[in-house]
Amino acid sequence: MTTEKKRFHDRIERNVGLLVVLTLLTAVVGGVVQIVPLFFQQSTTEPVAGLKPYTALQLVGRDIYVREGCYVCHSQMIRPFRAETERYGHYSVAGEFVYDRPFQWGSKRTGPDLQRVGGRYSDEWHRVHLINPRDVVPESIMPGYPWLATTAVDDWDIQRRMEVLRMLGHPYTDQEIADGPAALSGKSEMDAMIAYLQVLGTSVKTR
Ligand code: HEC
Repeated sequence: MTTEKKRFHDRIERNVGLLVVLTLLTAVVGGVVQIVPLFFQQSTTEPVAGLKPYTALQLVGRDIYVREGCYVCHSQMIRPFRAETERYGHYSVAGEFVYDRPFQWGSKRTGPDLQRVGGRYSDEWHRVHLINPRDVVPESIMPGYPWLATTAVDDWDIQRRMEVLRMLGHPYTDQEIADGPAALSGKSEMDAMIAYLQVLGTSVKTR
């Protein structure tokens, strides 16, 4: 290093204020360069072909998923590694999550990843499994959620919520929003949860 450069560097290292300011500046520039292009890159902002916004029932199921903390044990993101794709199917792509607010990626896997669980089991399997997992998987340590089967879904705010999502770019039609409450009538939280689980990851053909 030339003496002049060295002196400049010495100055930075000896002046805590300057060091902090320059470190922050470096981090900000680096962050902006990495993050900002993602907002404009099509592969992260455009839905994959075939992705539909959640129906009223799936949407409610998704909220119950969040409420019950299923994400504490289950991730919804398949990494692009052979061990993952052999087990779960096609790795996740950004365009699959355009209608997920907030996304449920996670990294904690006490249970298996659920991103491609849609269509893997019958509705009846899920019903039995969610009431008492050990009835279908004897060694399971997953807790049961029997109250889902006996609790009716709440429909009072579904239209409002679909409207808000539409403002954020989810393409709901007026008709779909108008039909929201009817789609929930007579449904249990179990029905909603199963509707949600069965659509997970199905917009990408996996096997
Ligand atoms: C304490 C951790 C834990 C929590 C919380 C939990 N699970 Fe699980 N889950 C597991 C484990 C472990 C398995 C694997 C054994 C089994 O199939 O029961 C599993 C399996 C599953 C499967 C089958 C996946 C497959 O590919 O075979 C589904 C579906 C599932 N869980 C849904 C849920 C839902 C929905 C919730 C929230 C209502 C939830 N889980 C909460 C631990 C958990």
